[in-house]
Amino acid sequence: MNKLIGLSIILSLVFACSTEKHSSQWQSYSGDPVIEYKVDSVLSLMTLDEKIGQMNQYSGNFASTGAVSDNQSGKYLKKGMIGSTFNVFGADHLRMLQEQNLKYSRLKIPMLFAADVIHGLETTFPIPLAEACSWDLELMEQTARAAAEEATASGVAWNFAPMIDIARDPRWGRVMEGAGEDVFLATQVARARVRGFQGISNYRDLSKPNTMMACAKHFVGYGAAQGGRDYHSVDVSEQSLYDTYFPPFEAAIDEGVTSFMTAFNDLNGVPCTANNYLYKDVLRDAWGFKGMVVTDYTAIMELMHHGFARDLKQGAQLSLDAGIDMDMISEAFVTHLKELVEEGKVSEKQIDVAVSRILEMKFLLGLFDDPYRYFDAERQKQVVMSEANQSLALLAAQQSIVLLKNEGKVLPLSTEIAKKVALIGPFVDERESLNGEWAIKGDRSQSVTLREGLEARYKDSKVQFAYAEGTELPLLDRSTMKAEKDNQDAERGFAEAVKVAKASDIILVAMGENFHWSGEAACRTDITLPGNQRELLKALKQTGKPIILVLFNGRPLDLSWEAEHVDAIVEAWYPGLMAGHAVADVLSGKVNPSAKLVMTFPRNVGQIPIYYNAKNTGRPFDAKAPSDYKSSYIDVDNTPLYPFGHGLSYTSFEYTNIMLNAESFGKGEAVKLKADIVNSGDCDGAEIVQLYIRDRVASLTRPVKELKDFRKVVLRKGETKTIEFTIDEAMLSFRDKNRKQITEPGEFDIWLGASSDDESNRFVISFK
Ligand code: NOJ
Repeated sequence: MNKLIGLSIILSLVFACSTEKHSSQWQSYSGDPVIEYKVDSVLSLMTLDEKIGQMNQYSGNFASTGAVSDNQSGKYLKKGMIGSTFNVFGADHLRMLQEQNLKYSRLKIPMLFAADVIHGLETTFPIPLAEACSWDLELMEQTARAAAEEATASGVAWNFAPMIDIARDPRWGRVMEGAGEDVFLATQVARARVRGFQGISNYRDLSKPNTMMACAKHFVGYGAAQGGRDYHSVDVSEQSLYDTYFPPFEAAIDEGVTSFMTAFNDLNGVPCTANNYLYKDVLRDAWGFKGMVVTDYTAIMELMHHGFARDLKQGAQLSLDAGIDMDMISEAFVTHLKELVEEGKVSEKQIDVAVSRILEMKFLLGLFDDPYRYFDAERQKQVVMSEANQSLALLAAQQSIVLLKNEGKVLPLSTEIAKKVALIGPFVDERESLNGEWAIKGDRSQSVTLREGLEARYKDSKVQFAYAEGTELPLLDRSTMKAEKDNQDAERGFAEAVKVAKASDIILVAMGENFHWSGEAACRTDITLPGNQRELLKALKQTGKPIILVLFNGRPLDLSWEAEHVDAIVEAWYPGLMAGHAVADVLSGKVNPSAKLVMTFPRNVGQIPIYYNAKNTGRPFDAKAPSDYKSSYIDVDNTPLYPFGHGLSYTSFEYTNIMLNAESFGKGEAVKLKADIVNSGDCDGAEIVQLYIRDRVASLTRPVKELKDFRKVVLRKGETKTIEFTIDEAMLSFRDKNRKQITEPGEFDIWLGASSDDESNRFVISFK
């Protein structure tokens, strides 16, 4: 308490002493003159060292995602020269760190604590890719909010999320962190997650103890890494940037996101972390972003590997010049900026701008009023793993599970009929991998396994389970970052598995990827089920019994053999804490699956990149009229195995009475499209109705289809609901060669369907 009084006395002196606004190009995020005055006042009292210290960030090394640098955090802490630390947890621990910081910081500038709370802190929600398959924006906002409630009570006021990179290459391990391949959907998801994490309707709300800063990452193009290999170069046209990679970031700014993170990759020859075009021309000048920018982990250091900076000092200069405010881990700013100022290579004004942005956030978060405000052990006890959050985790997992195949309606597994079910595979009892690579904190022993979920669900039924692991999940040797191959004799479990299967009526197989096989630096060139899981399936197939395959993984897999030979496929992804219960609910029919894919499943890796909204080409292939010299493969179809938007239900839906109120419209007008959606099957369910558009002729080639809107319609058995879409000029627009948003007159195809490959309801409208 004494310390707090001391701090407020110093701050009132600070404000009293400061008389004039420093002259810099700094434009505040809040636009609030009082906040600006406070920032300027503190800044005017700071030494150059103190300013540079604010731009320096360390990791608590709890979950290091790069080289654990041999850093000098202790030394800089004692000089009051650490602006932020990330991935350290616990209200009490952080309180201690803040006390240390304030002890050494002459002006008592609070430290800002950050973390990667990607899909929950302790209550782990499904991985973001899975959750996006729910197409339920409200749900995604809620889980982000719950994550933020837990994080803020545990000391974290800045979240390194959401990751909003569009990703179209399932070899890339980080597809699990995003919202998939589609621009429209991913942009809506980006908005929902920013809203949820930050929990603010304007900058004033940031001072509430349960709100936090979000971070739009990674700007930009990271998902387009060549060959799907993490950190690899990205070469995409400006047209693709505007059409595909920029929109989620621009939308995040519109939602008030407070920070951005750079991407590791170089983009068209310039590493993002020192990219003037991205951070000056686009982010600041064109989009007017006024929050702060942090580098990714050691990204300034990596400018040397890129061959873009000759040494760390030049790296510091180049990134500051590009408009970067905070250096994560590299110690480039803290080591070299002073010298660069003395040599006249960078100006103190540039540093003032960066520091002002950082200080503003600290003011807005209320840290200057109370540097301990986020360390609330009492609130931590109440919100972390609260019952409400656990129920939300269950709901989110149920809504994220995609039913890919259900031949002969083998699912749901009735609880009434006496059945012997063989429960086989390495994911039957797997616990840790259920949460995915980015589950940051929490007690993994609390995650519900598939076996536990099924036993609980079928407890009072006539269903009996018999178990056999069959094979093991190949692991990853983190020291070599290579898949471990030493489980080659894992076929020893096959015989037992086949015996159990033979004695059963049906085989339920749980397979997938160990959590280290998906995520950062976990890229694969072969995206089939790892190890000899497919071999085990082949052995089980010999029994002639129906097979239900439940998958736990972080990326679209090559399921070409499985899709042909097993009876049902349930894509559960990494469902998080409540995995076993959620999957058991779907298998039993207690929950009718409604999720739909947000990323295409290819037939094999050779088709990658494969996504639904590709261009038509000059020689499109037509399966009905094949001929030579068309854009196709000779060894596999052009179509994917499972397209974007695909997902089955236990009921059936019909789309009827589809009506457009006009066939053409002009500037300032719109067309209404109405449809009745009927639940024509045997149980309640939810349908995700998708609206796609194609611009038939344009001054730049346009995709064969683009998602423009959707509705998730919940329908009781036999129920009908009418839905309505508005098709306006904006929906038909695109960026022209001068990057201007335009709509060209002409004809447009409109599809209303259950998936991106659903061609049954097509209409044509024209724009005059
Ligand atoms: C590297 C990752 O690319 C980034 O997403 C993450 O926020 C940082 N490490 C910090 O953990």
